[in-house]
Amino acid sequence: MSAPSHVPASRPIGVFDSGLGGLTVLQAIQERLPAENTVYFGDTGRTPYGTKSPETIIKYSQQISRFLLEQNVKMIVIACNTASATAFEAVRDAVDVPVIEVITPGAEAAATATQNDHIGIIGTRGTVNSGVYVRAVRKAIGKRLALAACCLNNPHQDATKVQILQQACPLFVGLAEEGWWDHPITQAVATEYLKPLQDAHVDTLILGCTHYPLLAKSIADVMGPEVKLINAGNNVATEVEAVLQKNGLLNLSNNHATHAYFTSDDAAQFQQLGSAFLNRPVQAAGRVDIERY
Ligand code: DGL
Repeated sequence: MSAPSHVPASRPIGVFDSGLGGLTVLQAIQERLPAENTVYFGDTGRTPYGTKSPETIIKYSQQISRFLLEQNVKMIVIACNTASATAFEAVRDAVDVPVIEVITPGAEAAATATQNDHIGIIGTRGTVNSGVYVRAVRKAIGKRLALAACCLNNPHQDATKVQILQQACPLFVGLAEEGWWDHPITQAVATEYLKPLQDAHVDTLILGCTHYPLLAKSIADVMGPEVKLINAGNNVATEVEAVLQKNGLLNLSNNHATHAYFTSDDAAQFQQLGSAFLNRPVQAAGRVDIERY
């Protein structure tokens, strides 16, 4: 499945997640960059990551990166918020290809979208406890305010008015994997989790876990139509394109792109559930003993 190494741009983009959620990011990448070959690894045998220690998440992410490098990837996309929040630096420092995380694109999209500067973040416990999103949103807001003060000649915005509220929603991952995307139980759980964010009048909500876009309808029903939901998939795809372009790695061929899928657990189940997450058939999947890496 690996592309010839003497044609760097035809090498695949490697994408990984703790399980199936990263397929929502892969879908956006495949749609934006249809000529790109891709290799996806979903760690369904060791999911969830959201409840695990940083040391474990770093070890898992490094193992997967070694597997992806063996597939001759030209870039690694960490399509898992929990792994992005915990293991980005460890992966970036260990590999010699560009590494993309999913936190910054979502934070920047939220900083641009908010009108009242009340931003909500939902994610796994691991992501929320890391505080990475709060720092990324503050940085993105700072950039926006600096731009408004200097270039848009609007010095009146005030960074101290920005409110950022986080909420861990651990049950959402199971509900997404169960296929209960628009289901009364999901509505009930969402109503409970999202109440503090409603009370804080957030007008922008970051879906800070790659499983959550699948529950977008239930989340939107609870939050109301005026609250913007940020699904970073498209922003990540834009970032992937920009980094490939900058490094001269964009695949400009007209060949039919190939997409390979690997999992650390049952391949047939990955194919079946993965097709629903990806919104197109996962034709074949291979099982990998990831502990070997
Ligand atoms: N896909 C993971 C994320 O984006 C969540 C699932 C898990 O806990 O492993 O954070």
